[in-house]
Amino acid sequence: MPAIKEIIDAYSADGKTVSRPLAYLYSNIRDYFVCKKGGKIVGCCSLHVAWGDLAEIKSLAVHPTHKSNGIGTALVKACLKEARELGIARTFALTTATGFFEKLGFEKVAKTSLPMKVFGECLQCSRYPDCDEEAMVKTV
Ligand SMILES: CC(C)(COP(=O)(O)OP(=O)(O)OC[C@H]1O[C@@H](n2cnc3c(N)ncnc32)[C@H](O)[C@@H]1OP(=O)(O)O)[C@@H](O)C(=O)NCCC(=O)NCCS
Repeated sequence: MPAIKEIIDAYSADGKTVSRPLAYLYSNIRDYFVCKKGGKIVGCCSLHVAWGDLAEIKSLAVHPTHKSNGIGTALVKACLKEARELGIARTFALTTATGFFEKLGFEKVAKTSLPMKVFGECLQCSRYPDCDEEAMVKTV
């Protein structure tokens, strides 16, 4: 989890990711997919089940020196595969990387179309309520 935290934190200062305490990361460790190169974790992404028919794709980050090698795509596809296996109908992401998610078939939706429950963590975020993340949804 320290390696995952380091990658997520590399992008948190400019608002692309949300920094998480190690305690949070360990509590959610089963949600994470990682990509390893040469024994080192170079990318991460998590699938967090929100409801019976809805899961969030979150904490997506690829180490700056390994970007644009298909790692982010592979990580999101792993999350989508798991969502399908779990029988979850819809996935969503709250993200500033809208172009990246569009390439994977996600569509922008109004935040108000998602259940209030999924915004619980936003209240803890320093960027709330002036956040530039958009809600994107993909049916799996
Ligand atoms: C977004 C991110 C995860 C993409 O990972 P990656 O491994 O670099 O992406 P891939 O190599 O799989 O790229 C797939 C495609 O998406 C494009 N892409 C990557 N990041 C993009 C972005 N922010 N906006 C639009 N397109 C993007 C790539 O150019 C590539 O296009 P191509 O297939 O036409 O060549 C990575 O750039 C990253 O860690 N960014 C900072 C953190 C972040 O924004 N996370 C998302 C929070 S939800």
